[in-house]
Amino acid sequence: MNADGAPGFEHWQDERLAQVERALSDWVRADAPAGLGQAMRYAVLDGGKRLRPLLVLAAAEAVRGNPQAALRAACAVELIHAYSLVHDDLPCMDNDVLRRGKPTAHVQFGQAQALLAGDALQALAFELLTPDGADVPPAMQAMLCRLLARAAGADGMAGGQAIDLQNVGRQLDEAVLRDMHQRKTGVLLRTSVLLGAACAGRPLPQASSQALRRYGAAVGLAFQVVDDILDVTAESAQLGKTAGKDAASGKPTYVSLLGLEGARAHADALLAQALAALDGATGLPGGIWRLDALARQMARRVC
Ligand code: IPE
Ligand code: IPE
Ligand code: MG
Ligand code: MG
Ligand code: MG
Repeated sequence: MNADGAPGFEHWQDERLAQVERALSDWVRADAPAGLGQAMRYAVLDGGKRLRPLLVLAAAEAVRGNPQAALRAACAVELIHAYSLVHDDLPCMDNDVLRRGKPTAHVQFGQAQALLAGDALQALAFELLTPDGADVPPAMQAMLCRLLARAAGADGMAGGQAIDLQNVGRQLDEAVLRDMHQRKTGVLLRTSVLLGAACAGRPLPQASSQALRRYGAAVGLAFQVVDDILDVTAESAQLGKTAGKDAASGKPTYVSLLGLEGARAHADALLAQALAALDGATGLPGGIWRLDALARQMARRVC
């Protein structure tokens, strides 16, 4: 229970996870031609922590935003994320065989089908954001598309992945490593918060808007620092992906730069920054407790 006697975070999270799972299963259809639908569903369903959708929904509820728009944005960002994982695992990128506890999409369906499943998931994300009917006003649709496109593209995830591949075998200084991590992972997480906020359909007070940006940026970077740590400390069975790959592949990470204890301290500092940023958003009508709990959970995650 919360202080106000409402059902607590775990209950909220369970309900929202179930809602997202149902919506993804409805929207990612099996009937795309030549087995493409199966490959798309394989990449999206049955696995994944769904942190990005939860951030969208938590931010949307904080601003009392449009719930239909929020569910669509939550699923859209997860589709972009799932597509990025399918491509990240390809032999031409990280060459991984295990993802979410299953063989990677290209191992299961072949490289060409995995590539196409990623392409189609990216397109479907934008289709979800532009529904017919009056549920999501046109200006909100345009804003959601713009935010997501920027996060997925050259300035965001795709650009970060390019930097990642270019720097295999090199040690980067903190500024360059931070820029790479922010782009390849952080921007999509920060954008999840902004997508939720955009479901308000009106500008937020400047202090709240800035607070959510700061929160999203800190959570986004912290997430990849923890990913770097878990690659060293966790087992493959626990992660659902092959552990120890970063060092084996010569990837620059926060662990390779700062050591394990240094990386842990950095993740803790970023969590503290995220929580402190939320102090600036306490005036939001739906409350910030979900965002607060998500940041804490993310920092202590073990997979
Ligand atoms: C893994 O992301 C890839 C990164 C961006 C670090 P997640 O850890 O969120 O993966 P899933 O969605 O839970 O499988
Ligand atoms: C993946 O980073 C980032 C994206 C997919 C955009 P990693 O390569 O570190 O993710 P994992 O460790 O394979 O999940
Ligand atoms: Mg990678
Ligand atoms: Mg990878
Ligand atoms: Mg990793």
